[in-house]
Amino acid sequence: MQNTQTKILDILINSEDYVSGEEISEKLGISRQAVSKSVHQLKEQGFTIDSVKSKGHRLISRTENLCRPAVERLLAGNPLISDVVIVDSVDSTNNYAKKLARDGGEYGVVVAAREQTAGKGRLGRKWISQKNEFIPFSLLLKPDIAPFQVAGITPIAGLAVCEALRENLGLDCKIKWPNDIIVNNKKLVGILTEMSAEFDAVDFIVVGVGINVDQRRFPEEIRQKATSVFIETNKTTDKNLILSQAVKHLTDEFLKSNYRLNSENLARYKALCATLGREVSFYRGGRRLCAQAVDITETGELMVKAADGTVSLINSGEVTTQGIY
Ligand code: BTN
Repeated sequence: MQNTQTKILDILINSEDYVSGEEISEKLGISRQAVSKSVHQLKEQGFTIDSVKSKGHRLISRTENLCRPAVERLLAGNPLISDVVIVDSVDSTNNYAKKLARDGGEYGVVVAAREQTAGKGRLGRKWISQKNEFIPFSLLLKPDIAPFQVAGITPIAGLAVCEALRENLGLDCKIKWPNDIIVNNKKLVGILTEMSAEFDAVDFIVVGVGINVDQRRFPEEIRQKATSVFIETNKTTDKNLILSQAVKHLTDEFLKSNYRLNSENLARYKALCATLGREVSFYRGGRRLCAQAVDITETGELMVKAADGTVSLINSGEVTTQGIY
């Protein structure tokens, strides 16, 4: 799946010294003009490359903003990924991925954007962010599961992204049921899974993930509720790395579990779930009820126990968790 820019980036990253245009053209079996054009395109995407006539090209610094060659290089060999699409600006990466599927495109595509202008959240909410501060991405997949099993995809996705961020950024991320990822009780990541299905078969699914990365400060109305990687670590992080690590964890988890919640991944989910053990409130039959979150079922529902001992299951909708935004 690697394009020429990705291959040249790989050569430059693996070389401490200048690499001549001739050497690159021989290695890749392309013309010197094609090498110059791709080097120019890499520079346009934010890579600083020193090009000296007598010596060739040397990579000085990489861009931390999303760009296809960097992501493609980091996802090389991933068995579930067939293509990486990075766009400058899009209404919603989920919409873009769904259009790819409807136009008959292949599955296994990662679509990410430097800017998302009409991001969609759960329960019809909007997700808006400034360019290059946030990573919106969607994974277009065709799992061999029945429509009722799609409910398991969302917790598996939440678990995978949570573990990716814990492992790679050292953040103490937790999961707020069903699939928000939080740090210090504030939201860092939101996930929206959409699907297209016939009566008994899933056509495709789109797993959409939004990660707050470089926001320094949030608007007053969400300051108590939202956080970013920058706010939690006090440093900027390469968004290409964060995206690739999240995709790697997602695809590893989907492959390992065959897209199904099972006792093993459910146990890991529960261990990271910050909702369990807390008081939650939710609407049932038009009334607001309070109960304690006691378990997560094998189908991903939240089991709650009211003060009078009544146990009920919640499978979607809005749940307010005491102590978490
Ligand atoms: C939520 O917490 O309400 C879910 C938010 C999901 C946002 C992501 S950003 C990438 C993808 N594209 C969208 O339009 N939405 C999801």
